Amino acid sequence: MNQNSRDGFSSRFGVFAAVIGSAVGLGNIWRFPYMAGENGGAAFLIIYFAFILIIGIPAMLSEFIIGRRGQSDSYGSFKQLVPKKPWYLVGLMGILAAFVILTFYSTITGWTLEYVVLAVKDVFSSTAAIQDPKQVFEHFHTQAARPLIWQLTTITIAALVVLFGVRKGIEGSAKILMPMLCVFLVILAVKSLTLPGSVEGMKFLFKPDFSKLNSSVLLAALGQAVFSLSVATGVLITYGSYIKKEVNMSRTAFSVSIADTFLAVLAGIAIFPAVYSFGMQPDQGPGLVFVVLPGIFQQMTGGVYFALLFFILVAVAGITSIISLLEAVVAPLVERFKLKRIVATSIAAGLACALGAFTTLSFGPLKHVKLFNKSLFDVSDFFASNILLPLGAFFLLVFLGWFYDIKQTKDELSNQGRLKLQLFPVFVFIIRFIAPTGILLVFLKGLGVFSFFG
Ligand code: TRP
Repeated sequence: MNQNSRDGFSSRFGVFAAVIGSAVGLGNIWRFPYMAGENGGAAFLIIYFAFILIIGIPAMLSEFIIGRRGQSDSYGSFKQLVPKKPWYLVGLMGILAAFVILTFYSTITGWTLEYVVLAVKDVFSSTAAIQDPKQVFEHFHTQAARPLIWQLTTITIAALVVLFGVRKGIEGSAKILMPMLCVFLVILAVKSLTLPGSVEGMKFLFKPDFSKLNSSVLLAALGQAVFSLSVATGVLITYGSYIKKEVNMSRTAFSVSIADTFLAVLAGIAIFPAVYSFGMQPDQGPGLVFVVLPGIFQQMTGGVYFALLFFILVAVAGITSIISLLEAVVAPLVERFKLKRIVATSIAAGLACALGAFTTLSFGPLKHVKLFNKSLFDVSDFFASNILLPLGAFFLLVFLGWFYDIKQTKDELSNQGRLKLQLFPVFVFIIRFIAPTGILLVFLKGLGVFSFFG
């Protein structure tokens, strides 16, 4: 994408496609539904919307501003804007976050590849002997080697792409991939809504029961909001450095966030009516979509073909995210530590595989290993999504709000005064007060939950 905007692809759309390509992924299709399912449905959804608006969008915009002003990656941009201050540490924290996400994101992307194969084997067909999707899912995890091989496969593909730099074609594919994903989700949602008893699922997703709200729901919603918008890994700072000076970044941040949220809700509408129609529970954790979607495919004419295409799409969306996460780790190793690209890529990919193996096995043989009363998967996901990312967003906002010249921020955001920024005072108020306090409160409450569990 870097090249895209330089090549002068219609630049506004080029940026939009690149950022949406990073934002939309398993976070929307897999993580959002199970988080909403575990955290009370509609009440979670409302809080999630609020956090997207007051924290996610401002944080995304902050990254764009820092990147376009600093004309470098996250580390370099901070060095450029405030040379003598340790703000570049925020950049380093983002790299760590990207790495941790890589370890568990590759687990789930691996699952989607298994499901492509299952679809080819006709497991979800309406005519073949119908298999219980839950059993299929559990059986898969008892065969420790298979999930591991799939994880290795996803990371290897990503590593090859990062090494040989065929990124352009892949990122260009976001322009085809995202609309297709959207169409598929609409069809799934319609099918799900026409299943008997689906109304209960819609109630779960849209009729809030605020008695279900508590500090862990708030922290989960915050984590999901920052995770889904790809905030705080530094990736958006790098993208920001490629945004042309005439692009209206506020508009980009808004439209990307709305599209991302729309796709997540669409995934929710595909999932929850079916959950209730099949008499399942919404709070079954990370396996949710892998158990529910096959059930829908089994009810569709031509469901196998549909399943096949759908899982291919999701797998590609997952792999493109892995490429971008891996790149976020590899690029600084190459640029700052002067490692050879092949060495840096091997180290990052190798470590991600090694650590990620524990995450993957935590659904099978290592199921009973617990840390802080959580599975190894939940621990790494919690650490990245609910600790590193919110903290990263906090520092980004506080940096721009309090430690960087607000006139410079205004200059950058308004394209050197060419755009009228009526909402600028609102933005400043949010990044100075509302968003940082919000994050801190939710975060500290959430840590209370942490010690409560521990
Ligand atoms: N937003 C991505 C998703 O929803 C996950 C993600 C978080 C990501 N940070 C990222 C992807 C950085 C690429 C780069 O699936």
